[in-house]
Amino acid sequence: MGAWPGLIRAYHDYLDVPDEHVVTLHEGNTPLIPVPGVAERVGRAVKVYVKFDGMNPTGSFKDRGMTMAISKAKQDGSKAVICASTGNTSAAAAAYATRAGMKCYVLIPDGKIALGKLSQAMMHGATVLQVHGNFDDALKLVIKISREHPVTLVNSINPHRIQGQKTVAFEVIEQLGGKAPDYHFLPVGNAGNITAHWMGYTEWHKLGRVESRPKMMGFQAAGAAPIVLGHPVEHPETIATAIRIGNPASWKQAEAARDESGGTIDMVTDEEIIAAYQHLAGREGVFCEPASAASVAGLFKYADKLGLSGGETIVCTLTGHGLKDPDRAIAVSPQPTKVQATEEAVLAAMELTE
Ligand code: F0G
Repeated sequence: MGAWPGLIRAYHDYLDVPDEHVVTLHEGNTPLIPVPGVAERVGRAVKVYVKFDGMNPTGSFKDRGMTMAISKAKQDGSKAVICASTGNTSAAAAAYATRAGMKCYVLIPDGKIALGKLSQAMMHGATVLQVHGNFDDALKLVIKISREHPVTLVNSINPHRIQGQKTVAFEVIEQLGGKAPDYHFLPVGNAGNITAHWMGYTEWHKLGRVESRPKMMGFQAAGAAPIVLGHPVEHPETIATAIRIGNPASWKQAEAARDESGGTIDMVTDEEIIAAYQHLAGREGVFCEPASAASVAGLFKYADKLGLSGGETIVCTLTGHGLKDPDRAIAVSPQPTKVQATEEAVLAAMELTE
């Protein structure tokens, strides 16, 4: 097996970047992991897998879009990029921009950003601006600034981002041996990723590379569910800070993916998200960030509503790694026990003494 060349080179037939402009950290090729404990809870002998996109180089699916956006910016001669972010986009933008020798400006909501993500943007040398406002406020600002100044916008309204992100569907099809799943669950925030998944499935379906397409099952957090409610949410709130978004940029495209696939966009509560997050880490050994667990929380919520006849294949995308948000992990877990450095004390704490 040769070394994985990164997704632009692996899927060069479907992504248009001249080789000399490719900026890559060899993203993509993430594992598709069976989760038997989830399947057991769903019942009816279904097969359930998680597509663990938290295994990308900066720890989230954003690398798929960012390798494209930064490569294209480089091809166009851009010297600087800008984005608004709940954290992961800024981490990816900062990493790929520095690799390409570009300046990177990131606008993040003040306070509500997971520490791992903030540390990445800082370490990769981005100019980090914490705005007194939420993601939606920051997005409006970067759109305006990128129109009026020589900085390239690398949020998912940049079409190259969606092109890169569509490769997740190609990988799932290949990992399932040339088949699409029956259902694909994923979290929805700014709605670029559900748009990209559907684009990927549709592209290979049109080309005859796969016979069917999955029903797309998108889940917002209950306190940040504009698509479900049918109107923007002015003050979105959820512990899943990655998807704390009240007015998604790809709203229409997400609805199209839902309707064309015969799927659903619904919401899950923070409690349901935490329960799925703990199940994945505690039972399956897969540590994702809270927002990612919205996909599996959605599957638990819908298990009885899908009308499964048995044997279906279900994939849930886990968009980001659990290490992104160590504060939340520690807050929902039993705290370590402090013990004296003696065998007696350790054994007592292990409950191994008579
Ligand atoms: N999961 C994670 C871990 C995310 O970081 C995001 C989005 C999503 C899901 C939702 O994906 O926006 O394409 O619907 N994070 C963006 C960011 C907004 O700035 O990092 P989406």
